Amino acid sequence: MNLLYVLLIPLFLSSCRADPLGNFCKENTNISSGSQISINIDLLLAEVVSNINLTGYVATSSGMETDRVYGLAQCRGDVSRKDCSSCIKDAAKEIRRRCPNQADARIWYDYCFLRYTQDDFVGQVDTSIGIFYFNVENVSDPQRFNKELGDLMDNIRSEAVIPKNKGLGKGKTERSPFVTLYALVQCTWDLPQIDCAQCLAIAVGNFPNFCDNRKGCRVLYSSCYVRYELYPFYFPLDSNNGTSHGKTKVIIHH
Ligand SMILES: *[C@@H]1O[C@H](CO)[C@@H](O)[C@H](O)[C@H]1NC(C)=O
Ligand SMILES: *[C@@H]1O[C@H](CO)[C@@H](O)[C@H](O)[C@H]1NC(C)=O
Ligand SMILES: *[C@@H]1O[C@H](CO)[C@@H](O)[C@H](O)[C@H]1NC(C)=O
Ligand SMILES: *[C@@H]1O[C@H](CO)[C@@H](O)[C@H](O)[C@H]1NC(C)=O
Repeated sequence: MNLLYVLLIPLFLSSCRADPLGNFCKENTNISSGSQISINIDLLLAEVVSNINLTGYVATSSGMETDRVYGLAQCRGDVSRKDCSSCIKDAAKEIRRRCPNQADARIWYDYCFLRYTQDDFVGQVDTSIGIFYFNVENVSDPQRFNKELGDLMDNIRSEAVIPKNKGLGKGKTERSPFVTLYALVQCTWDLPQIDCAQCLAIAVGNFPNFCDNRKGCRVLYSSCYVRYELYPFYFPLDSNNGTSHGKTKVIIHH
């Protein structure tokens, strides 16, 4: 893998939940706005928006033969149906605004992920594009921190591959009476357990490159999501002990 470009955008985590964390519009998949493919994308998005409430996950296709498009939408398993529905609604609107002329597009939010393309990608693990958000602040006790983070990640990764957990693992480690480490992993539901495990292993394997000693970090792939913070961020939310969320930066890795 090579680093194609690095964006360093200071962001604050308190920013509106409607802001996407990133998007990808594939070049050379241009379509015109009146084309059948474009119409099928709109049909697919309408179906995704109306069906996401059922389970928080939709994998579907729209159209026939050369005009067919495949799509997948999923929310994080801890997010409420209401927040999920509103995240996917925003995603469906925003992906068309950001990638108006592309038949292959993806958009990442903290609560949800949406993707469509003309290839049937459903069921295949994909870590070709990674978005890494990291806290600019570092921990003061890296050795102990990395041990605790590694142990917590091992635990929640093994939770995520238990079928009844549907790709979700989350947990926390109390570092002191005042500081708790929180972590969550989520695979997309189309993945077999072994591919979920692989996606999570790749994400965690990239910690030394992008999250090294950071107080918080998020890895966003098309097949899995991994995040840890020194403050509560997953649902149900722990009461916040007032830890500063700090400033984050993002790297997009192809
Ligand atoms: C595809 O569309 C984008 C605008 O969305 C344009 O910048 C680009 O040149 C187009 N590429 C091709 C190969 O037509
Ligand atoms: C999904 O469910 C939420 C909460 O039950 C509701 O507010 C929302 O209108 C529903 N959305 C759709 C598209 O049905
Ligand atoms: C954290 O560590 C990185 C690399 O080790 C360094 O570049 C960065 O300046 C540190 N951040 C702070 C806020 O000290
Ligand atoms: C908050 O601090 C109290 C002690 O002051 C501790 O008992 C509790 O576990 C902490 N909660 C979290 C979420 O860290």
